[in-house]
Amino acid sequence: MRIGVPCESAAGENRVAATPKTVSELRTLGYDVLVEQGAGLKSGLTDAAYQEADALTVDRATAWGADVVLRVNAPNDAELGLMRPGAALIAFLEPRFVADIVAKCATAGITALSMDMVPRISRAQSMDALSSMANISGYRAVVEAVHAFGRFLGGQVTAAGKVPPANVFVIGTGVAGLAAIGVAGSMGAVVRATDVRPETAEQVESMGATFVQVAPGAADQGVSADGYAKETTDDYNARAALMYAEQVRQADIVITAAAIPGKASPRLITAEMVGTMAPGSVIVDLAAAGGGNCELTKPGVSYVTASGVTIIGYTDMVSRLAGQSSRLYARNVANLVTLLTPGKDGQFRVDFKDDIIRTATITLDGAVTFPPPPVQVSAVPVTPPKAETEVRALPPKPPRPWQLDVALAALAAVAVTCLLSFAPLQLLGSLAVFVLATVAGYYVVWNVTSALHTPLMSLSNAISGIIIVGAMLQLANESWPIRILAALAVLVATVNVVGGFLVTNRMVSMFRKDA
Ligand code: NAI
Repeated sequence: MRIGVPCESAAGENRVAATPKTVSELRTLGYDVLVEQGAGLKSGLTDAAYQEADALTVDRATAWGADVVLRVNAPNDAELGLMRPGAALIAFLEPRFVADIVAKCATAGITALSMDMVPRISRAQSMDALSSMANISGYRAVVEAVHAFGRFLGGQVTAAGKVPPANVFVIGTGVAGLAAIGVAGSMGAVVRATDVRPETAEQVESMGATFVQVAPGAADQGVSADGYAKETTDDYNARAALMYAEQVRQADIVITAAAIPGKASPRLITAEMVGTMAPGSVIVDLAAAGGGNCELTKPGVSYVTASGVTIIGYTDMVSRLAGQSSRLYARNVANLVTLLTPGKDGQFRVDFKDDIIRTATITLDGAVTFPPPPVQVSAVPVTPPKAETEVRALPPKPPRPWQLDVALAALAAVAVTCLLSFAPLQLLGSLAVFVLATVAGYYVVWNVTSALHTPLMSLSNAISGIIIVGAMLQLANESWPIRILAALAVLVATVNVVGGFLVTNRMVSMFRKDA
């Protein structure tokens, strides 16, 4: 079979549905690949690169006339007319939002699979283009915000004065929101975030941000059966509005990414709240395409309000990072084609026994198959608040007899007196150094953050090296006890050095790109 990769025709769309790398993979699956001339140029991918990957560069009609067409966006009527009945199409078709797309695909007699319908289940992760794109949009949201903000995100103390860190508030901690938290945090901002799903608090906190919760009330929001947020109640919205008013007022940058699949974006930030933000603040509304989380968002537009707040409503964040987006999208599409080619024989098979294929397919040879039966998406289990356990009072411990304390103190005094009277002067000196080193070591180690303890210990292996040298010198001593102790010291210090080296090597290899 032949796979066609036509150019994207939507205004401002810079992505492409296949890269030279995925073309090679499609070739190994047994397909011939026809790429429309110039299809990858806006993503930095030349025709020559596709040809090197064994694709044919062809004209528009030939690409659309293939057996399977890969696209980013849904085709317009003219493009759909170029497809032949019985062919297959894979693209973001958005059947939940674009009312007539299902009917059009059915009339064209094609099999259509929509990338935005791939269910968010573990097995489909490698095909989850919505997540790939949301991740990029979260990253780009911070880039756009910083560009408009005109200040550092991180705090600095400079010769010209102190710069405070920026306060970033992220609303909706799905894929896009978490990506934004990661990028803003890595740039030094103080990040707070909120979500209607309480189970995301742990993820937010693990990324170094603070989770802001809506004040508890009578009917609290939870997770819906499919792991996604459900629509909020009026009571919840009233409590949430108080929290948003407070957080938005304090924020320098607000990034909104709250969405409920298949529903319009929830309206969370009012014009009044925007009015309380300091001039120069920025709101990036990632949900602009679905109507926006902010009342003042203009989809596709960035503008400055009368009070000096920049509101960015770009709906093409991913296209603004086209090279990256094309690579990830093309990989998701190639993984779906691999699933659809079980025999690796260049034959496309739509097997409805497979949940992923069934859910993504909106028409099959012209027959409407949308909406699909629901797929159970595994929700992150919410840890129920611990039931208050009965705390039983333990019987009080009997006080230690004072005679014991006196006896211990006397014993310690006798030991110290004996040591001072009979021990050689050299031993006393060494003992004093040992005690001081223990005290200094204790304070040094406990004042270093625990994340750095392993590297600190690896570095302190140098001390083991000194011990080995000293102990080896003592191995030649005439006294047998000293020789045995020296041999033991060499053994223990060697274990420490070798162990430390292995641990450090393992840690370093985690950061190597080729690992
Ligand atoms: P997601 O479904 O992974 O996350 C959405 C989050 O919003 C969920 O955690 C959900 O619990 C939360 N949420 C829902 N209702 C809420 C409410 N009332 N209050 C607080 N939180 C609420 O979605 P994903 O993939 O992260 O996408 C986020 C948004 O970004 C979507 O609107 C999507 O369309 C948009 N997006 C925008 C792009 C652009 O270029 N502007 C590109 C890609 C995605």
